[in-house]
Amino acid sequence: MAAGILCTGISWADADSTSHIGPDTDMRETYSGAEVYQRYCLACHMEDGTGAQGAGYFPALAENNKLAAAGYPIFVVLNGLGGMPWFNGMLQDEEIAAVVNYIRSNFGNNFTDQAAAQDVAIMRGPVPKE
Ligand code: HEC
Repeated sequence: MAAGILCTGISWADADSTSHIGPDTDMRETYSGAEVYQRYCLACHMEDGTGAQGAGYFPALAENNKLAAAGYPIFVVLNGLGGMPWFNGMLQDEEIAAVVNYIRSNFGNNFTDQAAAQDVAIMRGPVPKE
């Protein structure tokens, strides 16, 4: 699994919330929360969710009370934030709910209520144009 993660071929160097980072992926299989995290989030937020500081600022998701309400991470994943690209158009509703549930129940976070695909669908707007 780890090898695949490192070979996604996506360069994050130029990513920001005004850039769209990939093709629409509704055609492929649905990834679990852990798979989404490993494929799309780990590169910036690190395997253990501790983020990174130095060349850039990637906030820790570990022990992060901003994840207390699922709506916040859903919003961030859909729309991007600062240096983080958006995933609207790249991840399915189920996948965004799954990864949000994943980060809210791992890395020292213990938020037990579950986000559902429907919660994401409500917040999802049209995919922004390039
Ligand atoms: C290109 C690097 C990058 C990727 C990939 C990325 N993020 Fe982020 N993320 C960031 C940056 C940078 C911020 C901080 C933005 C700011 O505050 O200006 C951030 C912020 C966040 C926040 C808000 C944290 C807080 O304390 O406010 C959440 C939640 C989050 N990311 C989740 C995710 C998830 C889930 C994924 C995978 C679907 C992901 N990120 C992928 C760079 C990234």
